[in-house]
Amino acid sequence: MGSPSASNARLLAADFELAAVPDDFYDDPYRYFAALTEHEPVRVLRDGSLLLTGYADVVAMYRNPQASSDKTVEFRPKFGETPLYEHHTTSLVFNDPPRHTRVRRLLMGVVNQRAIARMEAGVIALVDGLLDELSEKMSRQGQVDLIDDFASLIPVEVIGNMLAIPHADRGPLRGWSLAILGALEPAPSLQVLERGNTAVTEFKAYLKALIADRRAAPLDPDIDMLTRLIQGETDGEHLNELELIHNCIFLLNAGHETTTNLIGNGLHALMRFPEQLNRVLEDPSLVPGAVEEMLRFESPIQLNNRRLVQESEVGGRSFPAGTLINLSIAAANRDPAQFPDPHRFDVARKPNRHVAFGQGDHACVGMNVARMEGRIAIGRFLARFPDLTPVGEPIRDRRVRFRGFTQLPVRIA
Ligand code: HEM
Repeated sequence: MGSPSASNARLLAADFELAAVPDDFYDDPYRYFAALTEHEPVRVLRDGSLLLTGYADVVAMYRNPQASSDKTVEFRPKFGETPLYEHHTTSLVFNDPPRHTRVRRLLMGVVNQRAIARMEAGVIALVDGLLDELSEKMSRQGQVDLIDDFASLIPVEVIGNMLAIPHADRGPLRGWSLAILGALEPAPSLQVLERGNTAVTEFKAYLKALIADRRAAPLDPDIDMLTRLIQGETDGEHLNELELIHNCIFLLNAGHETTTNLIGNGLHALMRFPEQLNRVLEDPSLVPGAVEEMLRFESPIQLNNRRLVQESEVGGRSFPAGTLINLSIAAANRDPAQFPDPHRFDVARKPNRHVAFGQGDHACVGMNVARMEGRIAIGRFLARFPDLTPVGEPIRDRRVRFRGFTQLPVRIA
């Protein structure tokens, strides 16, 4: 990251707007975030919302009982009465208690340590199969793509297995997921909105049929998330059909792109910092800690949102009910008050209490699934191909909310 002078940093902070980031933001958002954390950690944006970039303020907001995740108010003008609106206001991540609590409790039962340990052998076999294919492709073409040929192929299978989606049906899942999450950008174009709405409609039709099949032939609810959601009885209430569908869509999306980006960003960071790659190669027991550092250093989800339901204090100032809050995970994870030398990628960093999975009531349900995938994918990749070199320029996915690559071509040996 470049280190802007103090006056330059002040200017970067003073001009910053999430809905209109400058062109060079995507290459190095951290320059802007560092300026904001230092000079304006509670910034009021043009639309009246706040952007929090200090670690302590972000954590306090995740834990603030006055901070709502419900998006029915702000998504109405953004999406209108559309499938996107229905989806994003029905899944648990954008609901408050008691709707939120009901679904979360059901899901937590399928991601405990025992359930994750049961998944491991399958993930190892999947990753080893992909590594064989990478080796073959490398001999045929002289290069491989870390996103298309590796990172993106793991999470779709893992989350697909968790919901027991038949293998033959998994093809469209990644495209649907990208289209639906893309519409969450601060300023989506009409085309992005249209693609998102089509994806929700197609996804719903697919899941409606799948849910009907699963109702007729349930699987083991300790292993299958969908059977658990269908049968789940919390406080005597079943989820209705729309809740079932939209929570499945959300799970497939949540488990998907984020983990792809963890693996892609992580391997990219190791190529950028060869001395850190060497440390992991020399001592593979560093892999789990390295995965935490990858999550901190290039967080796959960069932003979360909340809305104040009552007047509340943020960063020592009072803001009224209704205020929208943008929580910058990316900036919090590089706050020098929490992480010494925050722009250094250090695979052995300790402590490393990053907020890549959020915190509080909505903290990521799948964090240990993602960690397991990251550990196996990165650990086994490096054991097989310790020598990896970029070929040309990688292509960044230019979004503010998510951070990752669409293409990451490399040579491996
Ligand atoms: C590296 C991968 C991942 C990252 C960085 C990530 C990040 C996050 C973050 C930041 C949140 C909090 C949202 C908020 O507070 O508004 C969240 C929520 C969630 N994540 Fe993840 N996630 C990842 C992987 C997964 C996986 C693999 C699954 C499923 C197996 C999953 C399922 C969920 C669910 C269900 C929620 C909503 C929890 C709630 O609202 O109570 N995530 N995730």
